[in-house]
Amino acid sequence: MAVAVVTGASRGLGRALARALAAEGWSLVLDARGAEALGALAAELEGPVVALPGDVADPAHRAELVSAAQGLGGIDLLVNNASVLGAEPLVPLAEQSLTGFAEALTVNTVAPLGLVQEALPLLRESGGAVLNISSDAAVEAYETWGGYGASKAALDHWSAVLAQEEPALRVWSVDPGDMRTAMYAAAVPDDDDSGRPLPEEGAVPALLELIGSGAASGRYSVSGRTAKEWTR
Ligand SMILES: NC(=O)c1ccc[n+]([C@@H]2O[C@H](COP(=O)([O-])OP(=O)(O)OC[C@H]3O[C@@H](n4cnc5c(N)ncnc54)[C@H](OP(=O)(O)O)[C@@H]3O)[C@@H](O)[C@H]2O)c1
Repeated sequence: MAVAVVTGASRGLGRALARALAAEGWSLVLDARGAEALGALAAELEGPVVALPGDVADPAHRAELVSAAQGLGGIDLLVNNASVLGAEPLVPLAEQSLTGFAEALTVNTVAPLGLVQEALPLLRESGGAVLNISSDAAVEAYETWGGYGASKAALDHWSAVLAQEEPALRVWSVDPGDMRTAMYAAAVPDDDDSGRPLPEEGAVPALLELIGSGAASGRYSVSGRTAKEWTR
């Protein structure tokens, strides 16, 4: 049975992807800080699931996640999805608190690399995949998205370098497109997000296709993709 570690699984995209992977028969190790929501998800899923509440920025917690995956048989897929904005609502860089900027870098960029480093021996063993959830804000200069966008740009960059250094793995950096989630509502509270798709409506089916396709390492964008386009 294939094993996936999914961070930020208590709501939004992470929760929807965890549900979909469980339905496909994956064994799961799930993370988020909110123990209650994470526990509720674990209780709802069938199959082997280990829910470990904690902060991905904490090295001891990252070690726990990998150790739990080892207990399930290894790691075939590591999904670095947990993220923060660094300011809620988002503000121009002139007003961006440096504490918030540093938090975005720590959670969105540094912690995922720490988890990859911890998981590398198991990923090498399985010839597994790393799926880093990025954003269009990594490549587009949207006003007020500077701190968060910088953290995702750095995530994209080290993903591309890791892919060169670890050719036996697949390393995907994926922009999931806009989604109706708590993060989007917190980023732009005045924006009417009712037209945006829920994660399960667009991003999750596309990510499942990507995972199933075994596509080459690289940066991908969910919008407008078809299953065929994941393989190149
Ligand atoms: N929504 C969009 O329109 C959009 C667009 C482009 C990219 N994205 C990306 O898509 C991914 C999912 O976003 P989303 O919209 O689903 O966000 P969300 O609803 O805010 O969910 C974020 C998840 O990350 C967890 N998390 C945050 N900080 C954490 C930490 N330090 N340690 C462990 N878990 C942590 C949260 O749980 P706790 O608070 O309980 O820890 C939650 O489960 C993110 O990488 C985001 O950057 C989103």
